[in-house]
Amino acid sequence: MDSVAGAGVVVTGAGSGIGAALARRFAAEGARVVLNDLNGPAVRKVAESCSTNNGGRATAISGDAASEDGVTALIESSRSELGEIDLFCANAGIARGGGPEASEEDWADSWNVNVMAHVRAARLLLPRWLERGSGHLICTVSAAGLLSTPGSAPYAVTKHGALAFAEWLSLTHRHRGLTVQAICPMGVRTGMFDGTDPRMEKLLGPDAIMPDDVADTVMAAIADGRFLILPHPDVARMYAGRAADPDRWLAGLNLIQQDLEAVPDIGS
Ligand SMILES: NC(=O)c1ccc[n+]([C@@H]2O[C@H](COP(=O)([O-])OP(=O)(O)OC[C@H]3O[C@@H](n4cnc5c(N)ncnc54)[C@H](O)[C@@H]3O)[C@@H](O)[C@H]2O)c1
Repeated sequence: MDSVAGAGVVVTGAGSGIGAALARRFAAEGARVVLNDLNGPAVRKVAESCSTNNGGRATAISGDAASEDGVTALIESSRSELGEIDLFCANAGIARGGGPEASEEDWADSWNVNVMAHVRAARLLLPRWLERGSGHLICTVSAAGLLSTPGSAPYAVTKHGALAFAEWLSLTHRHRGLTVQAICPMGVRTGMFDGTDPRMEKLLGPDAIMPDDVADTVMAAIADGRFLILPHPDVARMYAGRAADPDRWLAGLNLIQQDLEAVPDIGS
């Protein structure tokens, strides 16, 4: 797919932030978009704000895009709405803080939303995509999936898992017409990163971009099909640096960690 015009598209987590920006852009470019979010009123509002002047369409379907039942219901109702799903954006994500001491619930929720949602969607989408020889999955991962991050072990670990799953799908099925892409931004001003946490602000604030900037990069990447979508281009250099010298990379992140520890934690 090099353009979304006329395509049947699903975007999860479209009630806010990056998902909302992607859905608006796709609809404006003429796609027929299903917007999903746990937050029904928010996603209906985003759907109503979508421009459909170019022949696009925007339909809100609220619900859980992570659980097995939720993903099944979303894909069934999206197929009723769209016919075929040409592009599925597994974008919904959560950020829970802490290290090993984070609760079992926070770890399980992070696996569920940040990784298993993608696995469950792919399980249901692949049979038809492989049968017809085309399908397109875009996973919103994070630079934390390429580089790790101070602050949240559940986030860093599950985003590596999301990247690994997207890579596996791509390496296994690209010769069968499947396109898989992974969006890996650093800070983006959204509900998840809203400027209220001083440590996050120190870590990500200086290079933060807007959700529409991510949508710009995604549109360019859909046109050329590259696997890694990097709204912060510098992430490519950092990723190469981490691979070339992991100890240097970890020592550098540890210095950032020590800096962040000097910033009062809003949780303490
Ligand atoms: N904001 C950043 O700095 C940043 C950076 C890198 C990656 N990301 C990733 O971008 C994606 C979108 O996050 P955002 O920054 O736009 O945050 P956001 O909080 O503004 O939006 C996330 C949306 O996902 C929805 N959601 C959460 N769990 C859901 C579920 N189980 N089913 C359906 N909807 C669900 C939320 O209700 C929310 O509307 C996430 O995967 C996040 O990890 C964000």
